[in-house]
Amino acid sequence: MNYTVVLPAGGSGKRMKANKNKLLLELLGKPIFLHTLEVFQQDPNCDAIWLAVKDEERRVIDNYVKKHKITKVHGYAEGGMERQDSVRSCLEAIPPCGIVLVHDAARPFIDPEVIARLVEAAKTTGAAIAGVPVKDTIKKATDGVITETVDRNQLWIIQTPQAFKYDLILKAAKSAVEDGFLGTDEAMLVERLNYPVQIVESTYENVKMTTPDDLIYGKAILESRIQ
Ligand code: CTP
Ligand code: MG
Repeated sequence: MNYTVVLPAGGSGKRMKANKNKLLLELLGKPIFLHTLEVFQQDPNCDAIWLAVKDEERRVIDNYVKKHKITKVHGYAEGGMERQDSVRSCLEAIPPCGIVLVHDAARPFIDPEVIARLVEAAKTTGAAIAGVPVKDTIKKATDGVITETVDRNQLWIIQTPQAFKYDLILKAAKSAVEDGFLGTDEAMLVERLNYPVQIVESTYENVKMTTPDDLIYGKAILESRIQ
């Protein structure tokens, strides 16, 4: 089954400390967002790509899109104050479709097989999100003193893509804005309406380019793939 992908790309990348949107930083000669776009351009199951971008960055981004023939880009929506606002503005802009994927433009290393499993799971459950098991020991602490060692077997590190039936994510996004609810991912918007969300096991390589050290890892991943 095919899908439409919504890519929030309208942040500023403060934690990257690059004095510009981190998505424009290059990894092996190409901006981060372009690596992400190429994954979806090459995925035969992807019908359309929509991006949420800041007004002032739309032209530079669209120039790359045209130059690199990312023909699946169907449109842009205006980036908002928060990531959730950017995603909602894209969801409101896209034509109705079966399955919508929301994916951080800052995660260029997503595996197309994971995308396929997410889409299948969302068809059945309505909502499916990428995650990997926690590798480290996790403890809770108050003032630096341990209060609990959490059972790692129940913990997942959640990533994007997050895949949804179109009607469900639109309803959840609208309900969140009506209630003034701000979540850290789209799944939270669905969870709060008591719909089930399925985790699909992803890869540890699907990291988000967030802080300067992530760029070192990102470059190493790309180099390992071209060898
Ligand atoms: N994003 C967005 N609109 C915002 C904030 C973030 O579209 N108002 C996008 C980012 O461009 C990124 C994705 O959401 O592709 C994940 O967000 P994050 O990694 O937090 O990126 P930034 O918000 O840009 O970074 P920071 O939080 O360090 O400022
Ligand atoms: Mg952010």
